[in-house]
Amino acid sequence: MNTMSELQRQLFLQQQNGKLLRQAADFSYQYLQQAPQAPAFPKQSALDLLSAFEHDLPDKTGDAEHILNQLALKGGPNTVHYGGGRYYGFVNGGVLPIGRAARWLADTWDQNAALYVMSPIAATLEAQCEKWLKQLFNLPAGTVAGLVTGTSVASLCGLAAARYRQLTRLNWDIENHGVFGAPKLRIILGRQTHGTVIKMLNLLGFGQQNIEWIDCDQQGRMQVDNLPELDASCILVLQAGNVCTGTFDHFKQIMPIAKRANAWVHVDGAFGLWAAASPEFARLTDGVEHANSWSVDGHKTLNTPYDCGIVLCDDQPAITHALHQQGSYIQHSGDRDSMMFTPDMSRRARGVELWACMAYLGRQGIAELVELLHHRALYFAKKIRLGGFRVINDVEFNQVLLRCDNDQQTQQTLVNIQQSGVTWCGPAKWQGDDVIRVSICSWATTENDIDVAVDTFVKARHNT
Ligand SMILES: Cc1ncc(COP(=O)(O)O)c(C=O)c1O
Repeated sequence: MNTMSELQRQLFLQQQNGKLLRQAADFSYQYLQQAPQAPAFPKQSALDLLSAFEHDLPDKTGDAEHILNQLALKGGPNTVHYGGGRYYGFVNGGVLPIGRAARWLADTWDQNAALYVMSPIAATLEAQCEKWLKQLFNLPAGTVAGLVTGTSVASLCGLAAARYRQLTRLNWDIENHGVFGAPKLRIILGRQTHGTVIKMLNLLGFGQQNIEWIDCDQQGRMQVDNLPELDASCILVLQAGNVCTGTFDHFKQIMPIAKRANAWVHVDGAFGLWAAASPEFARLTDGVEHANSWSVDGHKTLNTPYDCGIVLCDDQPAITHALHQQGSYIQHSGDRDSMMFTPDMSRRARGVELWACMAYLGRQGIAELVELLHHRALYFAKKIRLGGFRVINDVEFNQVLLRCDNDQQTQQTLVNIQQSGVTWCGPAKWQGDDVIRVSICSWATTENDIDVAVDTFVKARHNT
């Protein structure tokens, strides 16, 4: 007797004949071939196609091929091309081809990376990523890594470990007693701290009024002379890579002061921590290895696919106490159980593509990629200055901050740039002025792309 339902029959057929996957591969290949000519941001004619997705939930099971077609033909043109050479918005990285391919495979495997017994391959690759990241960033041997969605969540994990450790030092058991009535921790941030750190501090129960703010220099680095007296109740957050200027805090000077005081140091190194993997930038990251926790993204400088955030912590007991979970059905093993280092239980196996990208590039290739982004940023700065813009940052890494003659001209120039379709970048405020942020974050950006983008910038300003 055939006990298979009609739905099951269809699903088995789809899975076994491989047609959907082959179509997806064809669509993907076409997409990538068109990418160099594709607009950096969708044109209005593409945006008009989006209404095709705004229908009621169908009553009945539909046609899978039709659905895939709809995604490819109406969704594809509405993607933003971070991976192209002329997209410089936010700090959105490109994708290495091996990362994309490994991600496809991982999607097919569809592994849950919570525990070794759920996926030996996911656990093994994560353990290997942890080892390589420690070597690349020169971190202490006892450092552990958790793979999360992005730097936001990685910072949450690092700060949760910090809260556990510092409260334990003050004889407070946060696990049992929570934050109510706890001894006060001192949170010390530079005024240029990224908004995600503040959001995560809020989630952990630290009100913004309790933050001790340290002034920064013109480039966004914390002013060391303004550091208050530190002690074992302190959590100090430093930055490797300011989101606007790309500058680095003075780790070499600050870290010994923090260490002596038993202050916990968390480093937000979303894109900049990768500088530690390049000898060319050793002077920028010198001392960063003495922090207690670090957050960094694979999906920015390393160009892994989205999403890939990493928390690193030199205090394994602190991070596992902060993030562990119990349940009689949880089967731990002597091998790596990754859920000890992340807030999630179920989690996709993002270690697959992270491992593949690092295995492919190797130590030298990673350094070369980091340096390439920097050299492209220097080239951009040189060309855009010649084009009459003011570059207002030191271009220490991959960010270039620009300004026209006044706020109004800067704003209108940016509108024109965004509407061009040729290139895309976003706004920010710096020292009270409107600025344009250019973030070079894709392996695919060539000098030719920059020449084309700079021409567009110059025309955009001319047309204000
Ligand atoms: C310095 C810094 N910190 C944190 C973040 C947030 O990272 P994510 O979007 O991966 O959570 C960013 C994003 O650009 C960043 O530049």
